[in-house]
Amino acid sequence: MLKELQLVEYHPDTAAAYRDVIKGLLKPVKELPPKLFYDERGSQLFDQITQQPEYYPTRIEQKIMDQHIDAIAARIGPDSLLVEYGSGSSQKTRTLLDHLPRLAGYVPIDISRDHLMQSAARLALAYPYLDILPVWADYETDFALPRPNRPVRHKVIYYPGSTLGNFHPEDAVAFLWHMRAVCGYDCDLLLGVDLKKDTTLLNLAYNDCAGVTADFNLNMLAHLNRELGADFNLDQFKHHAFYNEAAGRIEMHLVSLTRQTVRLIGHTIPFETGETIWTESSYKYTPTELATLAGRAGFAVEKVWTDPNRLFSVQYLTSKNV
Ligand code: AVJ
Repeated sequence: MLKELQLVEYHPDTAAAYRDVIKGLLKPVKELPPKLFYDERGSQLFDQITQQPEYYPTRIEQKIMDQHIDAIAARIGPDSLLVEYGSGSSQKTRTLLDHLPRLAGYVPIDISRDHLMQSAARLALAYPYLDILPVWADYETDFALPRPNRPVRHKVIYYPGSTLGNFHPEDAVAFLWHMRAVCGYDCDLLLGVDLKKDTTLLNLAYNDCAGVTADFNLNMLAHLNRELGADFNLDQFKHHAFYNEAAGRIEMHLVSLTRQTVRLIGHTIPFETGETIWTESSYKYTPTELATLAGRAGFAVEKVWTDPNRLFSVQYLTSKNV
C-alpha cells in the first residue's frame, strides 16, 4: 500500500525573489542567484548534467560513497534524522538509505516542488518502512524541521554535490551557521566538497560537448521569461564558463551577443555587446581551506574520504563546543 506523504510547505517568497532579480540586474556587474536555475526544467537539466562524461563531480562522489559507505553509515548510526539540503532526485541518498535501515526519518528539502514530491514518492516505494518528511522550501530562508514519529538520537545534515561551493566563502560561513540554527547546535554534517585540481579538467566539466550545461545556464532566462514576463531572447545570449584560478572558483556567465534591452516587471535593463550576467560561482577547496572555512562556522572536520586522484571529497563534520 502507498503511504500518504505529508509535504511541509514554506512557499518560496516570490516577491523577495523578484527583488533579488532586479537588484542583481541593476548592479554594475549583473548577476542572478543560482537558485533560479532550478525550475522543473532546470532540475531535469541538472540531472542530465550529472550524466555527462565531462562532469566528474557526481560520478566521483558516488564512487567515494560506494567505497566508504560502511564507515559513513556507521558514523551516522541508528535512530538518526537525515536532513538533505537540495535533495533534487535524491539519487546519491539511496546509497545512504540502503545502509541505514534504522533511520528515525529522512527530510528531503528542495526548492522545486514537483521534483521533490516525485522523488519522495519514488523513495516511499523503495523504502516503505522509512519515515519520509519532505520540506518544500528555499533552504536559505527560515523553516522548521518536521518531527518524525520515532525519537531522534542525533541529526545529520547531508549536503552533497559540492553545492556549498555556490556561496562565496564568507557567505558559506554564514550559511553553515544558518544550518545549525535550523537543525540545532549539536548537528553533524556530511558534506560533498569538490577539490582544487587541474584547470583543464575543471573547464571541461562546465563546458560539456553535448551542450547540456549551456542549456542549463540559458534556461535561467527562460525561467524569468515565464515567471516574471521578461522578454529575454535566448538566442542573443551565450553560455560562458571558466575556472578563475585566482579566486578558486568556476564562474558561469551569460554573455549578451548584441547591444540590447530586456524588459521585466516594469524595468528596462540595457546590455552592451559582450556584457555578462554572472549566474553561478562554484568554489573549489583544498581540504585545508575547507577545514578553515568550516571552523569559522563552529564545525570540526572529523574525516575526509576522497578518490585516488583527489578530485572530490566527502567529509564528516561535527559541531565544536557542544
Ligand atoms: C549543484 C552547484 C554543485 O556547481 O557543479 C553544474 C551546479 N552548474 N554545472 C556545480 C552546476 C553547472 C553544481 N552544483
